[in-house]
Amino acid sequence: MKLLLLLLLPALVAADGRALFVARCASCHNERGDKPLKDGPPLSQRPLTRKQVAGFVKSRLAQATPEEQRAVTDYILGFIETPR
Ligand code: HEC
Repeated sequence: MKLLLLLLLPALVAADGRALFVARCASCHNERGDKPLKDGPPLSQRPLTRKQVAGFVKSRLAQATPEEQRAVTDYILGFIETPR
């Protein structure tokens, strides 16, 4: 039991970029960013740089901690098909 808790703890403490994205962004972008957007291709097909994504996350999630913002940025870069 104790061991299980020790194994689970890091996952609970680390900012969960996927969960935040699903909660705050997926209504318009889908869980994997593949929902078509009215002004162009879905997020997953946009050739965005880390810097661009990070800037967007920062403005969209201004209340989130820097760790949470980084986790969401990493999650998005994970599904972008052609990162620059
Ligand atoms: C209410 C709907 C909606 C929500 C919620 C939403 N977005 Fe978007 N997002 C859009 C639309 C529409 C576009 C396309 C805008 C455009 O091309 O100018 C977009 C574009 C983007 C882009 C690409 C910008 C670019 O320059 O190509 C990023 C990155 C992004 N969203 C991140 C996020 C993140 C992160 C969240 C959650 C914190 C989020 N979005 C929540 C509607 C939404």
